[in-house]
Amino acid sequence: MPSCGLDTGTGRLWIEHQGRRLALVALWLRERSEAPDQMDLNSHQRTYDPTRLPADLQILDAQFDGSGVTIQFSDGHCCRFGLDWLAVEAGLAPDPVALPEPAPWTADSVIPPTASWAALDDPDSLRDLLTGFFTSGFAILRDTPCTEGSLKTIAGRFGPLRETNWGVLFNVRTEAQATDLAYTGMALTAHSDNPYRRAVPAIQFLHCLENGATGGDSTLADGAAIADALRRDAPAVYAVMTRLPVSFRYRSAAVDDRGQAPVLDVDEDGRLRAIRLSTRLDFPPAADPEVLDLFYDGRRRLAAYAEDPAFQIRFKLAPGDCLMMDNHRTLHGRTAFAEDGPRYLQGCYIDYDGPECLYRVIGHRRLAARGAIAA
Ligand SMILES: [Fe+2]
Repeated sequence: MPSCGLDTGTGRLWIEHQGRRLALVALWLRERSEAPDQMDLNSHQRTYDPTRLPADLQILDAQFDGSGVTIQFSDGHCCRFGLDWLAVEAGLAPDPVALPEPAPWTADSVIPPTASWAALDDPDSLRDLLTGFFTSGFAILRDTPCTEGSLKTIAGRFGPLRETNWGVLFNVRTEAQATDLAYTGMALTAHSDNPYRRAVPAIQFLHCLENGATGGDSTLADGAAIADALRRDAPAVYAVMTRLPVSFRYRSAAVDDRGQAPVLDVDEDGRLRAIRLSTRLDFPPAADPEVLDLFYDGRRRLAAYAEDPAFQIRFKLAPGDCLMMDNHRTLHGRTAFAEDGPRYLQGCYIDYDGPECLYRVIGHRRLAARGAIAA
């Protein structure tokens, strides 16, 4: 249980948990009040404008009752906070509904998260699948409805579908007048989709309806793992790949889509936010020749890692299988396929919000069932 006290010298509340102590100021606490006249508890939105609270707001009194603290503020408001909840809000205790952390994988270490479609009716099974998805950046659903268009229902189970110029669903099968290389029998090296789009699609579904052609195996590689490998093997190259703004373009008769970003988008701690690897439509700027040397080296290395059996897994989707991939992390491709049998996949995109909300809402329900309700 966290401990808490009022520092009469500064007028701040301190909270301590597992050896870490933080000072909490009056405004930070005051605007977290979940009193019914302060917050609409259907939406958890404040019912007032917090910028109108007094800038010099103070804590006048703090009464502790073992599991919580009741605070009297100088503007007349009084409310109680549970200490467990306050420790989570202050970042001293883990959020019980936090998403699982990504765990980079290689071909040796990965266990593909898999669930049958029917099992997803059970919240625990759905949560397990989502845990695997957030950890590994992909998941496989088996025995899904196997009719044309049923992907709308399958992907819709996880969140609203995001329509693009490819439509709500796109059909991955050989076309006479292909508008994308995906619609031919050519092999596709591991790539991320639509890097040219402003707001690159977050999650891609690929639903297998027919896969009777020779070849056409699906390939996956973890962008987080290959980014780590590049940082380890060639730090100077890695630095260019995280900084050089590359122009990604898709152009056809009716579309001229362009986005600019580094191939590796990483946060200040070096964790991958997004990889954009699509070597058929990326155009670096006319940078210094030395920088371009490093860029081309980096692109060559990333593409090689993504095709390396140490990093890549390869499997054949069966009719009714549906692959779900984090398009900002997991690179996907396929081997070439012959014209000796039907191969028909349908695809679509959704945003992150859907699966992330599902995961948290299931978590809130589990906590409520155990009686551990916040604040
Ligand atoms: Fe693709």
